[in-house]
Amino acid sequence: MTEPFDAVDVIRAKRDREELSGEQIDWVIDAYTRGVVAEEQMSALAMAIFLNGMGRAEIARWTDAMIRSGERMDFSALSRPTSDKHSTGGVGDKITLPLAPLVAVFGVAVPQLSGRGLGHTGGTLDKLEAIPGWRAALSNEEVLAQLEDVGAVICAAGSGLAPADKKLYALRDTTSTVESIPLIASSIMSKKIAEGTGSLVLDVKVGSGAFMKDLDRARQLAETMVALGTDAGVRTVALLTDMSTPLGLTVGNALEVRESVEVLAGGGPSDVVELTVALAREMLAGAGRDDVDPEAALKDGRAMDVWRRMIAAQDGDPDAPLPVAEHTEDVVAEADGVLTGLDAYDVGVASWRLGAGRARKEDPVQAVAGIEIHAKPGERVRAGQKLLTLHTATPERFTRAKEALAGAVTIEPDGAAEDRSIVLDKVTA
Ligand code: URA
Repeated sequence: MTEPFDAVDVIRAKRDREELSGEQIDWVIDAYTRGVVAEEQMSALAMAIFLNGMGRAEIARWTDAMIRSGERMDFSALSRPTSDKHSTGGVGDKITLPLAPLVAVFGVAVPQLSGRGLGHTGGTLDKLEAIPGWRAALSNEEVLAQLEDVGAVICAAGSGLAPADKKLYALRDTTSTVESIPLIASSIMSKKIAEGTGSLVLDVKVGSGAFMKDLDRARQLAETMVALGTDAGVRTVALLTDMSTPLGLTVGNALEVRESVEVLAGGGPSDVVELTVALAREMLAGAGRDDVDPEAALKDGRAMDVWRRMIAAQDGDPDAPLPVAEHTEDVVAEADGVLTGLDAYDVGVASWRLGAGRARKEDPVQAVAGIEIHAKPGERVRAGQKLLTLHTATPERFTRAKEALAGAVTIEPDGAAEDRSIVLDKVTA
Protein backbone atom coordinates (compact mmCIF):
# COMPACT_ATOMS: atom_id res chain seq x y z
CA MET A 1 0.00 0.00 0.00
CA THR A 2 1.32 3.46 -0.86
CA GLU A 3 1.22 5.73 2.16
CA PRO A 4 -0.21 9.23 1.51
CA PHE A 5 2.18 10.94 3.97
CA ASP A 6 5.67 10.55 5.31
CA ALA A 7 6.02 10.45 9.12
CA VAL A 8 9.11 12.68 8.93
CA ASP A 9 7.04 15.49 7.34
CA VAL A 10 4.37 15.22 10.04
CA ILE A 11 7.02 15.34 12.79
CA ARG A 12 8.74 18.32 11.14
CA ALA A 13 5.45 20.21 10.85
CA LYS A 14 4.71 19.85 14.57
CA ARG A 15 8.33 20.53 15.47
CA ASP A 16 8.03 23.83 13.54
CA ARG A 17 4.77 24.71 15.34
CA GLU A 18 2.51 24.21 12.33
CA GLU A 19 -1.05 23.00 12.72
CA LEU A 20 -1.44 19.39 11.53
CA SER A 21 -4.17 18.82 8.94
CA GLY A 22 -7.04 16.43 9.64
CA GLU A 23 -5.72 14.06 6.97
CA GLN A 24 -2.22 14.06 8.49
CA ILE A 25 -3.67 13.23 11.92
CA ASP A 26 -5.94 10.45 10.62
CA TRP A 27 -3.04 8.93 8.76
CA VAL A 28 -0.44 9.14 11.52
CA ILE A 29 -2.72 7.46 14.09
CA ASP A 30 -3.81 4.75 11.68
CA ALA A 31 -0.28 4.12 10.38
CA TYR A 32 1.09 3.98 13.94
CA THR A 33 -1.58 1.42 14.90
CA ARG A 34 -0.63 -0.64 11.82
CA GLY A 35 3.07 -0.44 12.73
CA VAL A 36 3.99 1.66 9.67
CA VAL A 37 4.96 4.69 11.75
CA ALA A 38 7.83 3.44 13.91
CA GLU A 39 7.96 3.82 17.71
CA GLU A 40 10.89 6.28 17.45
CA GLN A 41 8.92 8.42 14.99
CA MET A 42 5.84 8.49 17.23
CA SER A 43 8.01 9.31 20.22
CA ALA A 44 9.48 12.29 18.35
CA LEU A 45 5.98 13.42 17.38
CA ALA A 46 4.72 12.99 20.96
CA MET A 47 7.60 15.14 22.20
CA ALA A 48 6.87 17.81 19.55
CA ILE A 49 3.21 17.83 20.70
CA PHE A 50 4.34 17.93 24.34
CA LEU A 51 6.52 20.98 23.64
CA ASN A 52 4.39 22.86 21.09
CA GLY A 53 0.85 21.80 21.98
CA MET A 54 -2.15 21.35 19.73
CA GLY A 55 -5.14 23.55 18.92
CA ARG A 56 -8.74 22.57 19.73
CA ALA A 57 -9.43 21.29 16.18
CA GLU A 58 -6.27 19.18 16.18
CA ILE A 59 -7.09 17.66 19.59
CA ALA A 60 -10.64 16.81 18.46
CA ARG A 61 -9.39 15.15 15.28
CA TRP A 62 -6.61 13.28 17.14
CA THR A 63 -9.17 11.96 19.65
CA ASP A 64 -11.54 10.91 16.88
CA ALA A 65 -8.75 9.11 15.02
CA MET A 66 -7.87 7.19 18.20
CA ILE A 67 -11.54 6.19 18.66
CA ARG A 68 -11.65 4.98 15.05
CA SER A 69 -8.50 2.87 15.60
CA GLY A 70 -10.71 0.27 17.32
CA GLU A 71 -14.22 -0.85 18.19
CA ARG A 72 -16.98 1.13 19.90
CA MET A 73 -19.15 -0.40 22.60
CA ASP A 74 -22.90 0.06 22.38
CA PHE A 75 -25.07 0.13 25.50
CA SER A 76 -28.21 1.35 23.75
CA ALA A 77 -29.90 -2.05 24.23
CA LEU A 78 -29.79 -1.63 28.05
CA SER A 79 -32.98 -0.77 29.89
CA ARG A 80 -31.05 1.68 32.13
CA PRO A 81 -29.20 4.93 31.39
CA THR A 82 -25.40 4.74 31.68
CA SER A 83 -23.01 6.98 33.58
CA ASP A 84 -19.30 6.62 34.14
CA LYS A 85 -16.50 8.34 36.04
CA HIS A 86 -12.85 8.70 35.14
CA SER A 87 -10.08 9.93 37.39
CA THR A 88 -6.89 11.36 35.96
CA GLY A 89 -5.05 9.29 38.57
CA GLY A 90 -3.93 9.82 42.13
CA VAL A 91 -2.58 8.23 45.29
CA GLY A 92 -5.02 6.28 47.48
CA ASP A 93 -7.74 6.93 44.89
CA LYS A 94 -10.01 3.97 45.51
CA ILE A 95 -13.21 5.95 44.83
CA THR A 96 -14.35 3.80 41.87
CA LEU A 97 -14.82 0.84 44.22
CA PRO A 98 -17.60 2.28 46.41
CA LEU A 99 -18.84 4.68 43.70
CA ALA A 100 -19.85 2.19 40.97
CA PRO A 101 -22.18 0.12 43.20
CA LEU A 102 -23.50 3.28 44.90
CA VAL A 103 -24.69 4.82 41.62
CA ALA A 104 -26.12 1.49 40.43
CA VAL A 105 -28.43 1.46 43.50
CA PHE A 106 -30.50 4.12 41.72
CA GLY A 107 -31.03 2.24 38.46
CA VAL A 108 -28.18 3.94 36.60
CA ALA A 109 -25.77 1.46 34.96
CA VAL A 110 -22.05 2.04 35.51
CA PRO A 111 -19.70 0.55 32.89
CA GLN A 112 -16.27 1.10 34.45
CA LEU A 113 -13.72 -0.11 31.93
CA SER A 114 -10.55 0.43 33.95
CA GLY A 115 -6.80 0.19 33.71
CA ARG A 116 -3.85 -0.93 35.75
CA GLY A 117 -1.48 1.28 37.69
CA LEU A 118 1.70 2.53 36.12
CA GLY A 119 4.26 4.62 37.98
CA HIS A 120 3.26 6.08 41.33
CA THR A 121 -0.54 5.98 40.79
CA GLY A 122 -2.52 2.85 41.59
CA GLY A 123 -4.80 0.98 39.19
CA THR A 124 -8.38 -0.05 39.95
CA LEU A 125 -7.94 -3.56 38.48
CA ASP A 126 -4.84 -4.21 40.60
CA LYS A 127 -6.86 -3.28 43.68
CA LEU A 128 -9.80 -5.55 42.89
CA GLU A 129 -7.48 -8.44 42.06
CA ALA A 130 -6.60 -8.51 45.78
CA ILE A 131 -10.05 -10.13 46.26
CA PRO A 132 -9.69 -13.92 46.00
CA GLY A 133 -11.12 -15.27 42.73
CA TRP A 134 -12.04 -11.89 41.21
CA ARG A 135 -11.71 -11.77 37.42
CA ALA A 136 -10.90 -8.57 35.47
CA ALA A 137 -11.29 -9.86 31.90
CA LEU A 138 -14.91 -10.04 30.68
CA SER A 139 -16.31 -10.43 27.19
CA ASN A 140 -18.52 -7.67 25.78
CA GLU A 141 -21.54 -9.97 26.28
CA GLU A 142 -20.63 -10.52 29.95
CA VAL A 143 -20.30 -6.74 30.47
CA LEU A 144 -23.77 -6.13 29.00
CA ALA A 145 -25.36 -8.98 30.97
CA GLN A 146 -23.83 -7.76 34.26
CA LEU A 147 -24.92 -4.17 33.60
CA GLU A 148 -28.49 -5.33 33.02
CA ASP A 149 -28.52 -7.67 36.01
CA VAL A 150 -26.34 -6.02 38.71
CA GLY A 151 -26.10 -2.49 37.27
CA ALA A 152 -22.34 -2.03 37.79
CA VAL A 153 -19.26 -3.60 36.29
CA ILE A 154 -15.60 -2.79 36.83
CA CYS A 155 -13.42 -4.70 34.38
CA ALA A 156 -10.46 -4.45 32.02
CA ALA A 157 -11.00 -2.42 28.86
CA GLY A 158 -10.77 -4.97 26.02
CA SER A 159 -7.83 -4.83 23.62
CA GLY A 160 -10.17 -3.68 20.83
CA LEU A 161 -10.99 -0.35 22.54
CA ALA A 162 -8.82 2.53 21.25
CA PRO A 163 -5.76 0.35 20.46
CA ALA A 164 -3.88 3.44 19.24
CA ASP A 165 -4.05 4.81 22.79
CA LYS A 166 -2.80 1.56 24.29
CA LYS A 167 0.37 1.76 22.17
CA LEU A 168 0.77 5.49 22.55
CA TYR A 169 0.23 5.52 26.32
CA ALA A 170 2.93 2.86 26.84
CA LEU A 171 5.28 4.87 24.61
CA ARG A 172 4.57 8.15 26.43
CA ASP A 173 5.25 6.48 29.74
CA THR A 174 8.79 5.64 28.63
CA THR A 175 9.54 8.92 26.81
CA SER A 176 8.48 11.44 29.48
CA THR A 177 5.59 12.75 27.40
CA VAL A 178 2.71 11.94 29.75
CA GLU A 179 2.01 15.37 31.28
CA SER A 180 0.71 17.04 28.13
CA ILE A 181 -2.84 18.44 28.04
CA PRO A 182 -3.61 17.43 24.41
CA LEU A 183 -2.16 13.95 24.91
CA ILE A 184 -3.88 13.28 28.25
CA ALA A 185 -7.23 14.70 27.08
CA SER A 186 -7.26 12.67 23.84
CA SER A 187 -6.07 9.52 25.64
CA ILE A 188 -8.79 9.61 28.27
CA MET A 189 -11.62 10.84 26.08
CA SER A 190 -10.95 8.43 23.19
CA LYS A 191 -11.44 5.52 25.59
CA LYS A 192 -14.50 7.01 27.28
CA ILE A 193 -16.24 7.97 24.03
CA ALA A 194 -15.45 4.55 22.48
CA GLU A 195 -16.83 2.92 25.61
CA GLY A 196 -20.21 4.46 24.78
CA THR A 197 -21.31 5.87 28.15
CA GLY A 198 -24.25 8.29 28.03
CA SER A 199 -22.81 10.63 30.64
CA LEU A 200 -19.39 11.07 32.15
CA VAL A 201 -17.95 12.70 35.25
CA LEU A 202 -14.24 13.48 35.19
CA ASP A 203 -12.29 13.66 38.43
CA VAL A 204 -9.36 15.88 37.50
CA LYS A 205 -6.75 15.67 40.22
CA VAL A 206 -4.64 18.67 41.24
CA GLY A 207 -1.49 18.62 43.37
CA SER A 208 1.79 16.81 43.91
CA GLY A 209 0.29 13.32 43.45
CA ALA A 210 -1.44 14.29 40.17
CA PHE A 211 -0.21 14.82 36.61
CA MET A 212 -1.39 18.43 36.88
CA LYS A 213 0.39 20.13 39.77
CA ASP A 214 -1.47 23.47 39.69
CA LEU A 215 -5.11 24.52 39.47
CA ASP A 216 -4.81 26.52 36.22
CA ARG A 217 -3.34 23.60 34.26
CA ALA A 218 -5.89 21.20 35.77
CA ARG A 219 -8.72 23.56 34.78
CA GLN A 220 -7.36 23.75 31.22
CA LEU A 221 -7.23 19.93 31.05
CA ALA A 222 -10.78 19.70 32.43
CA GLU A 223 -12.13 22.26 29.95
CA THR A 224 -10.48 20.44 27.03
CA MET A 225 -11.97 17.09 28.07
CA VAL A 226 -15.43 18.50 28.81
CA ALA A 227 -15.48 20.10 25.32
CA LEU A 228 -14.39 16.81 23.66
CA GLY A 229 -17.08 14.81 25.48
CA THR A 230 -19.82 17.37 24.85
CA ASP A 231 -18.99 17.57 21.13
CA ALA A 232 -19.19 13.77 20.93
CA GLY A 233 -22.69 13.78 22.46
CA VAL A 234 -21.62 12.58 25.95
CA ARG A 235 -22.97 14.72 28.84
CA THR A 236 -19.66 15.57 30.52
CA VAL A 237 -18.73 17.53 33.64
CA ALA A 238 -15.47 17.66 35.59
CA LEU A 239 -14.67 18.15 39.26
CA LEU A 240 -11.24 19.50 40.14
CA THR A 241 -10.17 17.70 43.31
CA ASP A 242 -7.27 17.90 45.72
CA MET A 243 -4.39 15.42 45.32
CA SER A 244 -1.76 17.14 47.43
CA THR A 245 -2.11 14.43 50.07
CA PRO A 246 -3.30 10.81 49.64
CA LEU A 247 -7.04 10.12 49.68
CA GLY A 248 -8.20 8.31 52.79
CA LEU A 249 -6.00 6.36 55.18
CA THR A 250 -4.68 3.62 52.90
CA VAL A 251 -2.53 3.33 49.76
CA GLY A 252 -2.00 -0.08 48.14
CA ASN A 253 -4.18 -2.77 46.68
CA ALA A 254 -5.67 -4.97 49.46
CA LEU A 255 -5.47 -2.06 51.94
CA GLU A 256 -7.58 0.13 49.63
CA VAL A 257 -10.17 -2.62 49.12
CA ARG A 258 -10.48 -2.91 52.90
CA GLU A 259 -11.09 0.84 53.21
CA SER A 260 -13.61 0.82 50.35
CA VAL A 261 -15.58 -1.91 52.13
CA GLU A 262 -15.56 0.25 55.28
CA VAL A 263 -17.09 3.10 53.24
CA LEU A 264 -19.72 0.73 51.81
CA ALA A 265 -20.49 -0.35 55.38
CA GLY A 266 -21.35 3.26 56.24
CA GLY A 267 -17.98 4.21 57.82
CA GLY A 268 -14.56 5.01 56.36
CA PRO A 269 -12.51 8.21 56.23
CA SER A 270 -14.46 11.43 55.71
CA ASP A 271 -12.54 12.59 52.60
CA VAL A 272 -13.25 9.30 50.78
CA VAL A 273 -16.94 9.48 51.74
CA GLU A 274 -17.16 13.17 50.71
CA LEU A 275 -15.63 12.59 47.28
CA THR A 276 -17.61 9.38 46.65
CA VAL A 277 -20.88 11.19 47.41
CA ALA A 278 -19.93 14.29 45.37
CA LEU A 279 -19.05 12.21 42.30
CA ALA A 280 -22.17 10.04 42.75
CA ARG A 281 -24.37 13.16 42.75
CA GLU A 282 -22.80 14.33 39.49
CA MET A 283 -23.10 10.90 37.84
CA LEU A 284 -26.72 10.57 38.91
CA ALA A 285 -27.55 14.10 37.73
CA GLY A 286 -25.97 13.31 34.35
CA ALA A 287 -28.34 10.35 34.05
CA GLY A 288 -31.38 12.43 35.06
CA ARG A 289 -31.50 11.27 38.72
CA ASP A 290 -30.93 14.43 40.74
CA ASP A 291 -33.89 13.51 42.96
CA VAL A 292 -32.06 10.91 45.11
CA ASP A 293 -29.71 10.91 48.11
CA PRO A 294 -26.60 8.77 47.52
CA GLU A 295 -25.29 9.40 51.05
CA ALA A 296 -28.23 7.50 52.55
CA ALA A 297 -27.50 4.47 50.33
CA LEU A 298 -23.98 4.23 51.78
CA LYS A 299 -25.33 4.36 55.32
CA ASP A 300 -28.19 1.88 54.97
CA GLY A 301 -26.36 -0.95 53.17
CA ARG A 302 -27.95 -0.67 49.70
CA ALA A 303 -24.60 0.15 48.06
CA MET A 304 -22.98 -2.75 49.94
CA ASP A 305 -25.60 -5.14 48.55
CA VAL A 306 -24.75 -4.10 44.97
CA TRP A 307 -21.00 -4.34 45.74
CA ARG A 308 -21.39 -7.95 46.92
CA ARG A 309 -23.35 -8.91 43.81
CA MET A 310 -20.87 -7.07 41.56
CA ILE A 311 -17.86 -8.90 43.07
CA ALA A 312 -19.60 -12.30 43.03
CA ALA A 313 -20.67 -11.84 39.38
CA GLN A 314 -16.95 -11.72 38.49
CA ASP A 315 -16.14 -14.85 40.54
CA GLY A 316 -14.81 -12.90 43.53
CA ASP A 317 -15.68 -13.91 47.09
CA PRO A 318 -16.85 -10.79 48.95
CA ASP A 319 -16.57 -12.65 52.27
CA ALA A 320 -13.04 -14.00 51.78
CA PRO A 321 -10.41 -12.46 54.07
CA LEU A 322 -8.11 -10.06 52.21
CA PRO A 323 -4.40 -10.91 52.12
CA VAL A 324 -2.25 -9.23 54.79
CA ALA A 325 1.47 -8.39 54.58
CA GLU A 326 3.91 -10.49 56.57
CA HIS A 327 6.26 -7.56 57.11
CA THR A 328 5.49 -4.08 58.43
CA GLU A 329 7.53 -1.11 59.62
CA ASP A 330 6.37 2.15 61.18
CA VAL A 331 7.35 5.73 60.41
CA VAL A 332 7.01 7.98 63.48
CA ALA A 333 6.74 11.75 63.99
CA GLU A 334 10.09 13.40 64.66
CA ALA A 335 8.66 16.37 66.58
CA ASP A 336 5.60 17.70 68.40
CA GLY A 337 3.37 19.99 66.34
CA VAL A 338 0.72 20.09 63.66
CA LEU A 339 1.11 17.81 60.65
CA THR A 340 0.85 20.37 57.84
CA GLY A 341 1.92 18.18 54.93
CA LEU A 342 1.90 14.52 53.87
CA ASP A 343 3.01 14.58 50.26
CA ALA A 344 0.87 12.47 47.91
CA TYR A 345 3.62 11.92 45.35
CA ASP A 346 6.17 10.73 47.92
CA VAL A 347 3.66 8.36 49.54
CA GLY A 348 2.69 7.05 46.07
CA VAL A 349 6.33 6.37 45.17
CA ALA A 350 6.99 4.69 48.54
CA SER A 351 3.96 2.42 48.13
CA TRP A 352 5.08 1.58 44.61
CA ARG A 353 8.57 0.71 45.88
CA LEU A 354 7.04 -1.54 48.55
CA GLY A 355 5.58 -3.58 45.67
CA ALA A 356 2.07 -2.11 45.19
CA GLY A 357 2.83 -0.77 41.70
CA ARG A 358 4.81 -1.80 38.66
CA ALA A 359 7.77 -0.28 36.80
CA ARG A 360 6.94 -2.05 33.51
CA LYS A 361 3.47 -2.97 32.39
CA GLU A 362 4.15 -6.70 32.46
CA ASP A 363 5.46 -6.68 36.07
CA PRO A 364 3.33 -8.38 38.80
CA VAL A 365 2.11 -6.34 41.78
CA GLN A 366 1.83 -7.40 45.41
CA ALA A 367 -1.73 -7.38 46.73
CA VAL A 368 -0.45 -6.86 50.29
CA ALA A 369 2.01 -4.00 49.73
CA GLY A 370 1.16 -0.41 50.62
CA ILE A 371 0.92 2.17 53.36
CA GLU A 372 -1.49 2.78 56.21
CA ILE A 373 -1.79 6.42 57.26
CA HIS A 374 -2.41 7.15 60.94
CA ALA A 375 -2.51 10.97 60.85
CA LYS A 376 -3.69 13.38 58.14
CA PRO A 377 -2.70 17.02 57.54
CA GLY A 378 -4.32 19.31 60.06
CA GLU A 379 -3.92 16.88 62.97
CA ARG A 380 -1.75 17.60 66.00
CA VAL A 381 0.95 14.95 66.54
CA ARG A 382 3.54 14.15 69.23
CA ALA A 383 7.17 13.11 68.72
CA GLY A 384 7.39 9.31 68.47
CA GLN A 385 3.75 8.93 67.45
CA LYS A 386 3.11 6.45 64.63
CA LEU A 387 2.34 8.33 61.36
CA LEU A 388 2.59 5.58 58.75
CA THR A 389 2.82 1.79 58.65
CA LEU A 390 4.59 0.36 55.61
CA HIS A 391 3.46 -3.09 54.39
CA THR A 392 5.26 -5.50 52.04
CA ALA A 393 5.86 -9.17 51.30
CA THR A 394 9.54 -8.42 50.56
CA PRO A 395 11.25 -6.61 53.48
CA GLU A 396 14.33 -5.70 51.43
CA ARG A 397 12.09 -3.02 49.90
CA PHE A 398 11.74 -1.01 53.14
CA THR A 399 14.99 0.95 52.69
CA ARG A 400 14.14 2.44 49.29
CA ALA A 401 10.52 3.10 50.33
CA LYS A 402 11.75 5.05 53.35
CA GLU A 403 14.11 7.03 51.12
CA ALA A 404 11.09 8.13 49.07
CA LEU A 405 9.45 9.35 52.28
CA ALA A 406 12.47 11.41 53.42
CA GLY A 407 10.74 14.77 52.70
CA ALA A 408 7.12 13.59 52.73
CA VAL A 409 6.13 14.69 56.24
CA THR A 410 5.97 18.34 57.36
CA ILE A 411 5.35 19.10 61.04
CA GLU A 412 5.20 22.72 62.20
CA PRO A 413 5.24 23.61 65.89
CA ASP A 414 2.56 26.30 65.49
CA GLY A 415 0.93 25.11 62.26
CA ALA A 416 -2.76 25.84 61.93
CA ALA A 417 -5.28 23.04 61.41
CA GLU A 418 -6.30 23.68 57.81
CA ASP A 419 -9.92 23.34 56.74
CA ARG A 420 -9.43 21.17 53.66
CA SER A 421 -12.01 20.79 50.97
CA ILE A 422 -11.59 17.90 48.57
CA VAL A 423 -13.65 19.36 45.72
CA LEU A 424 -11.95 22.55 44.54
CA ASP A 425 -14.11 23.49 41.55
CA LYS A 426 -16.47 22.21 38.86
CA VAL A 427 -16.16 22.63 35.08
CA THR A 428 -19.25 22.30 32.88
CA ALA A 429 -19.81 22.70 29.14
N1 URA B 1 -4.94 8.42 32.02
C1 URA B 1 -5.05 8.05 30.72
O1 URA B 1 -5.84 7.18 30.38
N2 URA B 1 -4.28 8.67 29.82
C2 URA B 1 -3.41 9.64 30.14
O2 URA B 1 -2.76 10.18 29.27
C3 URA B 1 -3.30 10.01 31.50
C4 URA B 1 -4.09 9.39 32.43
